Amino acid sequence: MILISTSNYEELSQKAAEEVISRINQNPSLNLGLATGSTPTGLYQKLIRDHKQNQTSYKEVNTFNLDEYIGISKKDRNSYHYFMCEHLFEHIDIPLDQTHIPDGTAKNLDEECMRYEQFIVEHGGIDLQILGIGQNGHIGFNEPGTPFDSRTHIIDLAESTRKANSRFFDSLEDVPKQAITMGIASIMDSKEIFLLVSGASKAKALSRLINGEVNEQFPASILQKHENVTIFVDKEATALL
Ligand code: F6R
Repeated sequence: MILISTSNYEELSQKAAEEVISRINQNPSLNLGLATGSTPTGLYQKLIRDHKQNQTSYKEVNTFNLDEYIGISKKDRNSYHYFMCEHLFEHIDIPLDQTHIPDGTAKNLDEECMRYEQFIVEHGGIDLQILGIGQNGHIGFNEPGTPFDSRTHIIDLAESTRKANSRFFDSLEDVPKQAITMGIASIMDSKEIFLLVSGASKAKALSRLINGEVNEQFPASILQKHENVTIFVDKEATALL
């Protein structure tokens, strides 16, 4: 694992953006795995700015999001479909039919999980996956205890995750109890991974990821076994290293 230390969130976002842009320049039809949440929004802003200033094009890029809530329609402002349109897709030249997110409203959710997993494989797999990390070590929505060999599946969200994400909703009751998430094995199949870790609230998780043992109770620890991971951190996140 390569650690890129930055002094603050702005610099973290900039450094990560430069590396994503360089991967797109090397491979204009990159299969790019995306995350939602607060951490990657700075990166997405930098990608948008670069697209406007330098015309980096996403016309041939395909994107694959890690996860989506179950039971929230795509048009709902709390869906990850909505989030991605608002924070990235609407502002770059990617054709919307090349953006892929699990469908949390599918009638048959088990089938949807299999379809999404298969769909990624049919597209040749993910070249570069962007990840954030939960305070409990989740990646995607793979909560502690998720088997390392898991593929895209339905997950019961941990109460701590629902609480952490309730900041986006009107109330905790409104936060869905389940999501579809790529599995740990699906994430580990990515050829390259960028993990973004920002802020004091993630310091414990970062320290456990780097110094702790590889254990299903701390899902992100599996990244120690991936051959091509870069972790972008800011100063506050490194407080316990
Ligand atoms: C989101 C995702 C999650 C988040 C994690 C951190 O698609 O997969 O693993 O990356 O919950 O969220 P933030 O960045 O909001 O702290």
